[in-house]
Amino acid sequence: MKHDERIAPVPGDYNLKDYEEAYRTFSWEEAEKVFSWSETGKVNMAYECIDRHCEGPRKNKVALYYSDPSGRDEKYTFYELKRLSNKFGNVLRKFGVKKGDRVFVFLPRSPELYVSVLGTIKIGAIVGPLFEAFMEGAVRDRLADSEAVALVTNPQLLPRVPIKELPALKHIILVGAGDALPQGDGVGFYDYHKEMAAASEELEIEWVDREDGLILHYTSGSTGKPKGVLHVHNAMIQHYWTAKWVLDLKDDDIYWCTADPGWVTGTSYGIFGPWLNGATCVVRGGRFNPDDWYATIEKYGVTVWYSAPTAFRMLMAAGDDVVKKYNLSTLRHILSVGEPLNPEVVRWGLKVFGKRIHDTWWMTETGAMLIVNFPCMDIKPGSMGKPFPGIQAAIIDDNGNELPPYRMGHLAIRVGWPSMMRKIWNNDAKYREYFRIPGWYVSGDSAYRDEDGYFWFQGRVDDVINTSGERVGPFEVESCLVEHPAVAEAGVIGKPDPVRGEIIKAFVALRAGYEPSEELKQDIIRFVKERLAAHAAPREIEFRDKLPKTRSGKIMRRVLKAWELGLPTGDLSTMED
Ligand code: WT7
Repeated sequence: MKHDERIAPVPGDYNLKDYEEAYRTFSWEEAEKVFSWSETGKVNMAYECIDRHCEGPRKNKVALYYSDPSGRDEKYTFYELKRLSNKFGNVLRKFGVKKGDRVFVFLPRSPELYVSVLGTIKIGAIVGPLFEAFMEGAVRDRLADSEAVALVTNPQLLPRVPIKELPALKHIILVGAGDALPQGDGVGFYDYHKEMAAASEELEIEWVDREDGLILHYTSGSTGKPKGVLHVHNAMIQHYWTAKWVLDLKDDDIYWCTADPGWVTGTSYGIFGPWLNGATCVVRGGRFNPDDWYATIEKYGVTVWYSAPTAFRMLMAAGDDVVKKYNLSTLRHILSVGEPLNPEVVRWGLKVFGKRIHDTWWMTETGAMLIVNFPCMDIKPGSMGKPFPGIQAAIIDDNGNELPPYRMGHLAIRVGWPSMMRKIWNNDAKYREYFRIPGWYVSGDSAYRDEDGYFWFQGRVDDVINTSGERVGPFEVESCLVEHPAVAEAGVIGKPDPVRGEIIKAFVALRAGYEPSEELKQDIIRFVKERLAAHAAPREIEFRDKLPKTRSGKIMRRVLKAWELGLPTGDLSTMED
């Protein structure tokens, strides 16, 4: 199992020059001193991301380039974002929104989304970004669990918000509502642009404690509804240093993170990390399309590009001729996150871009990167890299014993890093599960380490599905499936797929009176798409008379998976007859 393939660093003036040295000497206590609040303790993420730069030479630097296929093409300086987010903070305050309240933003990627996120944070409220593809069930679960009081959305997405089922929701701000504001349902509706026009550009920022709530990201587990992962302002220490050393951002960079802020990559590294470093960010609206993506790099002269394996694989599948149509020579640093980065994708990147793709490993719960490939170190294709300075990563067994090289076990992190989640909303029991082995955060991933300290991802320990880099909880999909009138029982697994990593496959037992048919399959798939989200819908359905269950009635997903892969089913002693 020796890994001999190595790709040496390209010589360059990187922000981090010597990884081993940094790993020996780094401490979070020292690292936080770059922030003036480390003495006062009073802080605000949005101030550090935006306003602070307006007191120096970056005031009129472009913070955000935005364009989309509909023809919008805009740019915003740090100073403009400061004033716009001040206005938005005032809009929320006018409605009585205050520190600690949850404000959700349910919008496609657009400048209004970024302004809303920053403005919410400025008044100390907790922002909850929602992916625009979410349908009614997914929106309801998140807003209800967090008892959100305000929502920013648009008229197209509004029908997916079940207002009557959300008693805490009092204010809905619509982007692009015009004069046609809805009424009723015990909620106030407002037009974003009118409110913004009327609001003052001066705002008293809410200075909060470093441990106060910042952002709530919902993510999937193998059981139950999505979990609300809460991050706090203190996370900025790690956002700042990882963006500086791993993304290697410098003042003349044009940085493009392709992730939507509905996912943690789109906030930690689409907002916080880059802007804490005063970097210029590109946001491109619309859907994935190879030509559009390459054209975006060319249009802005993107230098640093953070994306995901599934996107790289789709670009690879589109062929090298597409690459040749564009001038991508500005690219100097490429990174990836979300799922295993295949060695062949790394080799392809070298061939077509002449650049290494740097894998990074982390999770919604960890808030920021933990194991990474730095531009100054050798890459071993297929490895996630090494722990960031200040991070102690290990492979441990069920009892917390550290395992030697090449032994597979739990990928675990010593507790205590700045961007660690601080709670699971309304669910302390779930939170504590991550720390069931004393002293460790147990990630749910399995991995091994090699003799050089590089980590190699092996898979999930639980049943969480990673499809196109998005985490989908099998239980959530199963629950949705059984709401369909024809479905009696459902078991959902991830099936390996060359482009998407995994696809969702559902095994379904029908209720009496229903017969399997292609039409019924399509109807069931559509049903999940309309209730949860397109990416959470099964791509494959297999009808079965009965599903394998434990005596206590739990669907045995591992048996379904073994059937699917043609592998032995293992111990069946707990299975019902
Ligand atoms: C899970 C976390 C936070 C970034 C986006 C995903 C998988 C993440 C890698 C990687 C192999 C990876 C893991 C992890 N994952 N990065 N570099 N190599 N697997 O965040 O939705 O919370 O998912 O994504 O299984 O546990 P997420």
